[in-house]
Amino acid sequence: MKILVTGGAGYIGSHTVLQLLREGHDVVVLDNLSNSSRESLDRVRELCGREAVLYVGDILDRDILERICTEHVFDCCIHFAGLKAVGESVAKPWEYYNNNITGTLNLLAALRDHNMKNFIFSSSATVYGDPEVVPITEECPKGVCTNPYGWTKSMIEQILMDMAYADREWNIVILRYFNPIGADPSGRIGENPKGIPNNLMPYVTQVAVGKLPKLGVFGNDYDTVDGTGVRDYIHVSDLADGHIKALSKITENAGLCVYNLGTGNGVSVLELVKSFEKANNIKIPYEIKDRRPGDIATCYADASKAKRELGWEAKHDIVDMCRDSWNWQSNNPEGY
Ligand code: NAD
Ligand code: UFG
Repeated sequence: MKILVTGGAGYIGSHTVLQLLREGHDVVVLDNLSNSSRESLDRVRELCGREAVLYVGDILDRDILERICTEHVFDCCIHFAGLKAVGESVAKPWEYYNNNITGTLNLLAALRDHNMKNFIFSSSATVYGDPEVVPITEECPKGVCTNPYGWTKSMIEQILMDMAYADREWNIVILRYFNPIGADPSGRIGENPKGIPNNLMPYVTQVAVGKLPKLGVFGNDYDTVDGTGVRDYIHVSDLADGHIKALSKITENAGLCVYNLGTGNGVSVLELVKSFEKANNIKIPYEIKDRRPGDIATCYADASKAKRELGWEAKHDIVDMCRDSWNWQSNNPEGY
């Protein structure tokens, strides 16, 4: 297949591009490099011996979208491009709504105008809000998001549902990711956050490499196994594989489908720290801090629908994730 991958130079995008190329697909990437660099795609080429065509450009730019859709015939678009920093989205809501929603609307218009109506969207478990029950199935109602970033995902899902309802030619797969961590086992590509990381695993690896003195654990008084927040961490390579499996659903002309991509296992902050220490034989100093505003106690997936319908399931456990995150960070202490 020929696949347009927006945001393909980013963390999840680069791992997915690698897998697409390995599977023999042709890949065109559109990325404005606002949160990534060409280096990730250079390393993808080095890993698999094939390369994606890169357009450096913005999904807010209708002209480049039109040009790409004129120059190529795509079997599917996998749409990763977007801003994703939760805290920043609270400070810059307009930028988040504009980039993520206007950008997606532009992309959908260009694809529709060229009759290329197969689409896979990166959504997030954040659309469930604070779940009433765990594990979370796709049937659980969407909830109240605690930040503009989360709302962009929720709103884009609604836009996709309305478009698929109005025009049955669209085939759309919405993938709700739980918490992606880890890196390609080669240690050549991985997550490259700008500045001080907001997310747990990149913070832990930067403590491990000595860039940050200690981890702050945000709250130990939640109603969980040890009082710290519980999440469903998933290896980024498993996540990438989920996109490959989703392509097969697209070819079934199934309309719009929604899948959780998680492992189904809840892991607390302190459990993750312990797994990291054990997997890599490194001590992670930490201190308990106040709860972080907007955080929920527990979030993990029921991922059985993806297994049943896509034949996909996560293969890597938390030890693999800790080892591969550290392999990436220790080999690339300054990122790309
Ligand atoms: P990332 O920032 O590494 O990748 C996003 C890419 O999109 C970057 O390369 C960035 O340069 C590009 N981009 C941003 N705005 C753009 C624009 N206007 N035009 C063109 N390119 C643009 O993030 P990621 O972790 O790889 O996330 C990929 C997708 O998955 C995002 O949509 C994100 O919201 C979603 N997601 C991520 C997580 C997570 O924890 N990492 C969880 C759930 C969902
Ligand atoms: N945490 C800490 N210290 C840190 C960072 C995080 O204790 O320095 C804790 C959090 O309180 C939470 C857990 O580690 O309990 C995970 O936090 P992350 O920031 O890594 O992940 P979140 O679950 O808050 O959010 C992530 C992405 C969102 C996405 C969501 C999907 O940041 O974009 O997963 O479930 F929507």
